[in-house]
Amino acid sequence: MSGDDLQAVCSVHDVADESAREFQVGDQAVVVVKFDGQFHAYLNWCPHLGIELNFMPDQFMDDEGRFLVCANHGALFEPENGHCLSGPCSGDALTAVPLEVRGEEIWVGRAEAPA
Ligand code: FES
Repeated sequence: MSGDDLQAVCSVHDVADESAREFQVGDQAVVVVKFDGQFHAYLNWCPHLGIELNFMPDQFMDDEGRFLVCANHGALFEPENGHCLSGPCSGDALTAVPLEVRGEEIWVGRAEAPA
């Protein structure tokens, strides 16, 4: 994918520290998370059952803001790399989405759709 395929989704100020928000990017639901001052993006797609992670809008983090969590069966994912640390998909990972910070804007691209 070339960098030209990215699109602006929000301002860096729209995602608070240690939190995450969902954006629709074309036909993909993308979760943008800010953790430890860095932004990361993943498909809103749990590797356990291939369904959305959240029940409530923009509720993706655990209470301490340390992990992304799947509301369905409680899997915990590292915000930095999407790796599942605990839960039924332990050892698997969220699907990373290309993300660039350009000035004050967050741009994301397309991920390869999971199999
Ligand atoms: S669907 Fe996410 S942990 Fe089961």
